[in-house]
Amino acid sequence: MKIVKGRRFTESAIGLLSAAVFAAIFYIWGNELMPHSAGRSGQLFPFVGAVSLTLAVALFLAEWFGFAGREVRKVKLAARDFLLLFSLVLCLFFLAKTVMDVLPDVPAWNRHVPARCYVYLIPVTAFAMVVRMLLNSEVAILFTVAASVLSAAAASGRWPTLLFLLLCGTAGAARAGRIQDRYRALLAGVLTAPVCAIGAVALELAFHGPGDIFWAAIFGAANGLASGPMAIAILPVAEYVFGYASDIRLSELSGTGHPLLQRLMIEAPGTFHHSVIVGTLAEAGATAIGANPTLCRVAALFHDIGKVGMPGYFSENQAGIRNVHDLLSPSASRQLIISHVSEGVRMAEEYRLGDRIIEIIQQHHGTSVLYCFYDKAQRQLPNIDMSEETFRYPGPMPRSREAAILMLADSAEAATRSLRNPTPAEIEETVTGLVNRIHLDGQLNECDMTLRDFHAVSQVFVKVLTAISHTRVDYPEIGKGIMRPSL
Ligand SMILES: [Fe+2]
Ligand SMILES: [Fe+2]
Repeated sequence: MKIVKGRRFTESAIGLLSAAVFAAIFYIWGNELMPHSAGRSGQLFPFVGAVSLTLAVALFLAEWFGFAGREVRKVKLAARDFLLLFSLVLCLFFLAKTVMDVLPDVPAWNRHVPARCYVYLIPVTAFAMVVRMLLNSEVAILFTVAASVLSAAAASGRWPTLLFLLLCGTAGAARAGRIQDRYRALLAGVLTAPVCAIGAVALELAFHGPGDIFWAAIFGAANGLASGPMAIAILPVAEYVFGYASDIRLSELSGTGHPLLQRLMIEAPGTFHHSVIVGTLAEAGATAIGANPTLCRVAALFHDIGKVGMPGYFSENQAGIRNVHDLLSPSASRQLIISHVSEGVRMAEEYRLGDRIIEIIQQHHGTSVLYCFYDKAQRQLPNIDMSEETFRYPGPMPRSREAAILMLADSAEAATRSLRNPTPAEIEETVTGLVNRIHLDGQLNECDMTLRDFHAVSQVFVKVLTAISHTRVDYPEIGKGIMRPSL
């Protein structure tokens, strides 16, 4: 209840703040945007027009994004997403107004370039690319429509302006999927440039004749070419302020030079090795069903980071040492094991790993039961009716396909690690049984995976695990037999 109240308060604060900024802009530019809107009373109370226009814009944005958030499956907008989208719409609105007010007054240009051609420079392309890189394609389309409508109004443009902005925003967003490095972001801008240039020339030709198509082409192309560098500049700011993790940020995190991974490697080498294998499995699983492989691989590297402070309590780090859980009660063991999830979330927040990794860390065990300690507790206290529920992780359950794949990869790696020299058939039996068990326990009820996806993921896991377990060949000791040739 507290969380819901807090969220409502944040959303209200965001709404009020956005409304205040919009009202201020409308008030400053009121004469141009709504010259006749408030009539005689507007001259006495000029803020009335600004407030009325703000109300209309706020209603439009709230209805537009609110409706999509409720009804479109892949549009799940939290308060933070609303804040990002409203901020970007506001920035673009402001930039559109500035472009149209400032550039026509530049003395070197104003004799050659007609003022209307500057609409082709409104940077909706870069903003749509940023939304696609931080959220998803569905939200990018919604953003493009809302931002184009308001920016066209800010530029006092008619429907050709709106059409051009919609075209550029859509083209930019379409080319900004799965961008993992800056080079690809620049390339997306370069590929968008011809579309923007052709669109600008076509509209110029249709509505104003061939006189200024040169400027339309130059400005349209510049819009596309500048979108890559602009998106690269906006992205880290948005990531830092709002806590997002784009694919570019994920790629930067995947190097083992990150201080958290360094600690994991030194303090918990067993967990580090487990995380690398889980990453390989999860990446292959994500590729098989069209989920995000980079997110899966990087989240896997960090998923057990909470074990760093207490590596000896986890089986993968207990080789050659006594199992410390033999000395602890089942409930104490349960407490320690479960705490690696909350500790991992805390460390990920401290190192600003970004929302997508934090969510996966939080969800990677879902609400599954710690059966080994539950069984131990039942054996120790056979007369007490012990509920399975007390030995469950607190959750939440995986809510994305990537989180679900990671849960499956984590369990598959752990289950097959205990098999000694397994045959492919044994690996297949273990993985298939495990996926079915997790599915029947309801752990994957909140993610968007189909039965076909489960099948595809488990088949890929079997392939990868079989390859891993058969890459090491037992060589005879030197001097005791003939060395086998490498195969
Ligand atoms: Fe874990
Ligand atoms: Fe794990």
